[in-house]
Amino acid sequence: MRISITETTHPSPKPDSSQLGFGRIFTDHMFLMDYTAGAGWHEARIVPFGPLTLHPAATVLHYGAEIFEGLKAYRRPDGAVQLFRPVENIRRLNRSAERLCLPRIDETDALEILTAFVRHEQDWTPSAPGTSLYIRPFLFGTDETLGVHAAKSAMLVIIASPVGSYYKEGINPVKIMIEDQDVRAVRGGTGYAKCGGNYAASTRASERAEQQGYSQVLWLDGVERRYIEEVGAMNVMFKIDGEIVTPALTGSILPGITRMSCIELLKKEGYPVSERLLSVDELAQALESGRLEEAWGCGTAAVISPIGELCYQGIKYPVSGGAIGPVTQYLYDTLTGIQWGTKPDPFHWTYLLD
Ligand code: PLP
Ligand code: COI
Repeated sequence: MRISITETTHPSPKPDSSQLGFGRIFTDHMFLMDYTAGAGWHEARIVPFGPLTLHPAATVLHYGAEIFEGLKAYRRPDGAVQLFRPVENIRRLNRSAERLCLPRIDETDALEILTAFVRHEQDWTPSAPGTSLYIRPFLFGTDETLGVHAAKSAMLVIIASPVGSYYKEGINPVKIMIEDQDVRAVRGGTGYAKCGGNYAASTRASERAEQQGYSQVLWLDGVERRYIEEVGAMNVMFKIDGEIVTPALTGSILPGITRMSCIELLKKEGYPVSERLLSVDELAQALESGRLEEAWGCGTAAVISPIGELCYQGIKYPVSGGAIGPVTQYLYDTLTGIQWGTKPDPFHWTYLLD
């Protein structure tokens, strides 16, 4: 596949690691590629980072035809840069594309594009502990018509941002509010797809929770508002009476790649892991009786994030005494060890850029 490269004439200085935060600084270039029905994907190019020009009728601006992915490049101790399970992100992007009637991308081409772009920007991968280069591919409909149809033209863009921790708390426990008014997704809807609309619909509840001092909301299912689904930007796991429980993938939650990796790690360690329906009543009872031993969120941006407090209908429940539980710590250490190349990778999850 041919990818043209136009180098920036105004390279930016690399940021100081202590200034990173999440998603505020971008690298010098971006990747662009166009799609038109009949011609397929064409004009793959790496160009200087900058604004995009869109027709005011473009489908994405009116009907939300947009999907995205999030993955990271990590700086290993030997200086090399590696990705974590990139093919899983490509597969999920294609599943999201199918749901939103956007064009899919051949898996091999997508991996070639992703690695070519990250290789080009790899000097931006920071090396301080806990930092990485967050990569954000996104794909949207660009049809210049107000008619509502499957996209006949689209664009794929990839941008990258050197990042520190997603939450200001870092690896310290976060406070989560269980949301009982708004819902994020329903079965048959777009919950399992990583589309911008899911996040737009989530914002009101997240803002309410933030105003009350909570980092994010924990969603309940959209029909009965009874079953635990996921947190705003991560999947959730609980240790109840020795069993690790995580909501089953029923169609309304995002099948997280970190979630999948945690399940594989925990099963290999011999922990009983159950992907099942978990009602908020069962969770509240486990909290009240002290049987909830640990709770954590997992996701690319958030990594493994211990939950130190859950609030449901005005009642505040401390979790693990506000400390980081041993399983949470094990997952954090093992997963980040594999991702940053400081621990062996028996699953062959990492993808080294040459
Ligand atoms: N759930 C939601 C809503 C998310 O935004 C994310 C982040 O991508 C996740 C779960 C975790 O997915 P992953 O582990 O693939 O990053
Ligand atoms: C990620 O973890 O990659 C995400 O997409 C979360 C994001 C909404 C910040």
